[in-house]
Amino acid sequence: KRRSSSWKSTSSRKTPVVSSMSLSAETVQTTPYEGQKPGTSGLRKKVKVFVQPNYTENFVQATLSANGAALTGSTLVVGGDGRYYCKEAAELIVRIAAANGVSKLLVGQNGILSTPAVSSLIRHNKALGGIVLTASHNPGGPENDFGIKFNCENGGPAPDAFTNSIHKLTTEIKEYKLVRGLQIDISKVGVSTFDIAGKPFTVNVIDSVADYLRLMEEIFDMAKLKEFVSGKVTGKPLKMRIDAMNGVTGPYVNEIFLKSLGASESCVVHTTPLPDFGGLHPDPNLTYAKDLVDTVAQGDYDIGAAFDGDGDRNMIIGQKAFFVTPSDSLAVIAHYLEAIPYFKRNGVQGFARSMPTASAVDLVGKKLGKEVFEVPTGWKYFGNLMDAGRLCLCGEESFGTGSNHIREKDGIWAVLAWISVMQHTGKGIEDILKQHWSIYGRNYFTRYDYEECASDPCNEMMDTMEKTITAAGFVGKSFSSGGKTYRVKEADNFSYTDPVDKSVATKQGLRIVFEDGSRIVVRLSGTGSSGATVRLYIDSYEKENVLGQASVMLKPLIDIALEISQLPKFTGRNAPTVIT
Ligand code: G6P
Ligand code: ZN
Repeated sequence: KRRSSSWKSTSSRKTPVVSSMSLSAETVQTTPYEGQKPGTSGLRKKVKVFVQPNYTENFVQATLSANGAALTGSTLVVGGDGRYYCKEAAELIVRIAAANGVSKLLVGQNGILSTPAVSSLIRHNKALGGIVLTASHNPGGPENDFGIKFNCENGGPAPDAFTNSIHKLTTEIKEYKLVRGLQIDISKVGVSTFDIAGKPFTVNVIDSVADYLRLMEEIFDMAKLKEFVSGKVTGKPLKMRIDAMNGVTGPYVNEIFLKSLGASESCVVHTTPLPDFGGLHPDPNLTYAKDLVDTVAQGDYDIGAAFDGDGDRNMIIGQKAFFVTPSDSLAVIAHYLEAIPYFKRNGVQGFARSMPTASAVDLVGKKLGKEVFEVPTGWKYFGNLMDAGRLCLCGEESFGTGSNHIREKDGIWAVLAWISVMQHTGKGIEDILKQHWSIYGRNYFTRYDYEECASDPCNEMMDTMEKTITAAGFVGKSFSSGGKTYRVKEADNFSYTDPVDKSVATKQGLRIVFEDGSRIVVRLSGTGSSGATVRLYIDSYEKENVLGQASVMLKPLIDIALEISQLPKFTGRNAPTVIT
């Protein structure tokens, strides 16, 4: 029964779309699906899996139910990276949330919100949480991946205890609730109100970029950066190539780099979010952002940057495609925090990195007298430390960099941080790195990925390797290759006790630490959607010899890692699918 609209605009802003309908919720019987266990970053499966009858409904219901009584009357944020099935999923979530007593939803226009934007919106609106519709850097389209992730009220990914409870609920689910007749046009910005069985329910379709832009303007000195980009002071405009890889960052890039910083149109590419990312694999690394790397290598660009599908990852390259490892990127930003007004205002607390990330930032932390934390892979492990006021800057080798301005890593933030450092130092990216290494020494780093391997042999490989490295006599053993010898100092399957809530995460990756600080780390990816992906991380520190070629410097340790892990034997692969 449709009631006539009673909403009257009192503001001068664009008139929102308004409806006020009275609707009722229904309960639908369902049965559990196996395997609805959120991984490192939410539930990721092929689209084909999500579109099975009640599959998405079950998982959304379990996610909402995991909030318990707090759900009633709550506000939630909903949005995603624009990949195939995002819009349908967003509309479905609206109908399920309405039936579950949620009182307000903030939904990105067309279902579009970057992951950092969701985090910011949750915090800014004091929402109970947010549902992020993304499979991050995994390819999109009907044949590829989709994902659903829940972020809690601090704006960060739900911790393990929460995702475990979602999983438990999915195994027991018998019914879900839904308001079938609720139709929302999420392509138009505006407020719609409904009466669901006597209770008000509001859907606010919001501009995808506005809140995030406000946040960036608070953090950075945009006027100064604009001047720097224009070349007013330096005499030469900053030549950038910002590649949104057809992911969610397109609208953010246009707003921030073109409008706020005044860069020319030619500085930004692939800025229309596409459901299949135009066939690109939206992962900013040397393999999948090849177009960016080749273009910057051939042109006279000062900085190149790319983001992943949902906008939380970044890759930074300098002139002639000089590659900045994410581990170094973190360390450099840590060294130059004074270049960013936000840190001047809020102070500098500790730093953190994930375990496989090279320990370059540790050296900066040591010099500045700051706490440095080593956490398991996954951004969720940084949240507690930030909430406790002990952490302001962190990063991961997986192309994640961010700060306590939100509780997700933030691709665009990282590029603005780098432009701030360039402005502050007046130097190019390669020079900034070389100077950094001359102060701190260099952590040569590489990661080898063996994607979509058979799961069983990979699990067997991990078990075997764990036995090998934890056996008596392994510590103290020496390994030699290519004229280099490494002696084992410690070796384990990494476990982490959260310093704030004392929760423990075990089996977070096999690591061998050598006496000179060099490390071998092997773990299985937690973000794949089929089979197993093995990641081999090599971190080798040099105090003096800092200008070598990474692949050459790391060869001996790579060979040792392949020997100890017996990776070729177990995976049947002689070469990785991706090297970063
Ligand atoms: C996502 C998380 C990151 C994490 C990465 C690890 O991007 O947000 O925090 O580092 O996944 O992925 P992996 O495939 O190595 O488990
Ligand atoms: Zn991502």
